[in-house]
Amino acid sequence: MSSVAVVGTGYVGLTTAVCLADIGHQVTGVDIDEAKVARMARGEPTIYEPGLDELMGQALKTGLLRFTSDYSQAIPGADFVFIAVGTPPGRRGEADLVYVKQAAKGIAAAMKKTVTIVNKSTVPIGTGNIVARIVGENLRDEIPFSVVSNPEFLREGSAIYDFMHPDRLVFGSHDESAARAVAGLYSKLEARILITDLHTAEMIKYASNAFLATRISFINEMARICERVDADVKVVSEGMGMDRRIGPLFLDAGIGYGGSCFPKDVKALARMAETMGYHPELLDAVMEINLDQRTLVVEKLREVLGGLRGQLIGLLGLSYKPNTDDVREAPSIDVIENLLQKGATVRAYDPKAMPVLKAQMNSIEYCRDPYAVATGVDALLVVTEWDEFRHLDLDRLKSLMRRPVIVDGRNIFDPKTMRDRGFVYRGVGRS
Ligand code: UDX
Repeated sequence: MSSVAVVGTGYVGLTTAVCLADIGHQVTGVDIDEAKVARMARGEPTIYEPGLDELMGQALKTGLLRFTSDYSQAIPGADFVFIAVGTPPGRRGEADLVYVKQAAKGIAAAMKKTVTIVNKSTVPIGTGNIVARIVGENLRDEIPFSVVSNPEFLREGSAIYDFMHPDRLVFGSHDESAARAVAGLYSKLEARILITDLHTAEMIKYASNAFLATRISFINEMARICERVDADVKVVSEGMGMDRRIGPLFLDAGIGYGGSCFPKDVKALARMAETMGYHPELLDAVMEINLDQRTLVVEKLREVLGGLRGQLIGLLGLSYKPNTDDVREAPSIDVIENLLQKGATVRAYDPKAMPVLKAQMNSIEYCRDPYAVATGVDALLVVTEWDEFRHLDLDRLKSLMRRPVIVDGRNIFDPKTMRDRGFVYRGVGRS
């Protein structure tokens, strides 16, 4: 058992703290937000993640997990201090390190003995060195310490599962023994371990997310070609995925990627490259294709309806992917703005994300279910592939719509079935 402090208890920090306690470490979560700390100490997670409240409750009960807003309660006794604070995009898309720097100062000021500082936040290459410099400058006494980069690869909605079943764990440091010590924290998990230097570990995180984003933009480009040559992109990606060198995952064409990671990380990597004098041609194309996907579905609606002014459009789904209420960088937001700007009226239904979007956008009507959305609309647009939408009563849906037009931005329906049922149906990349 090791003594661990986790600074920053947002999405990544809280998941990390709870899971490290669950695998037997003594963990203190540190957050400057006292109200948040009080809630978490009562066992109420501040984010929604399946299974998190249960694990958190157990860990609080066994005493392996506690929370504080006071660095001096958490840092002096810790052998490992994780930094898991946010790195929001700055004005030009580069990651803003203000919280990371604050955390490094706070840790240094509270340190009483040797620690290993572990960076979990997604940070520009070289940030580990910046953290080391800030800690060094702010230490009261000469205390030895090391900095290790240990990037997270958690997906929203399956973060606990991903933590417990990692494909790989990456540890990078100038101090190899420190990297190995951090790897030791995870010895209960079965995972491939990669020990490397600091910059390489930081780069692995960006390169992984950029590659996954590239796969999505690649298949979206194939979808555009499929539409022109009369082929079906769903079957194309199935056929491609059968090749072991390619693999089947992350090859779903659609309205493009969103969320708090891919858009931010690809942009940050591209800007970073530019700062270093390299023009990232491929990454720029990945981002451009991704944004264009959001425009293309609106173009499809315009084409089928013969214009958008005065048309009533119903959106099915608002979150950037199913099983979350997260609308950060969600394609729905651009689509809504585009539709409104072209003179359409918009209404929408989402099983989870409506309260979140309502708080920032009141120019559309929010409906209680998909059938309420469909009533009297000129077209429906599927934005998020919630399971609920796959099982709709299609005859009822059609009878409620003013015109039976469906643009399926996630290819959840079968084109032939939809046409047989009397819909005017357009998917993505399916002739
Ligand atoms: C992602 C990474 O998977 C994770 O490793 C990283 O740490 C954070 O970013 P997440 O944002 O939770 O996780 O979402 P993910 O499930 O990976 O999906 C990202 C986006 O890509 C979604 O908008 C999704 O709709 C889209 N997507 C995914 C596609 O459009 N097509 C696909 O084939 C797969």
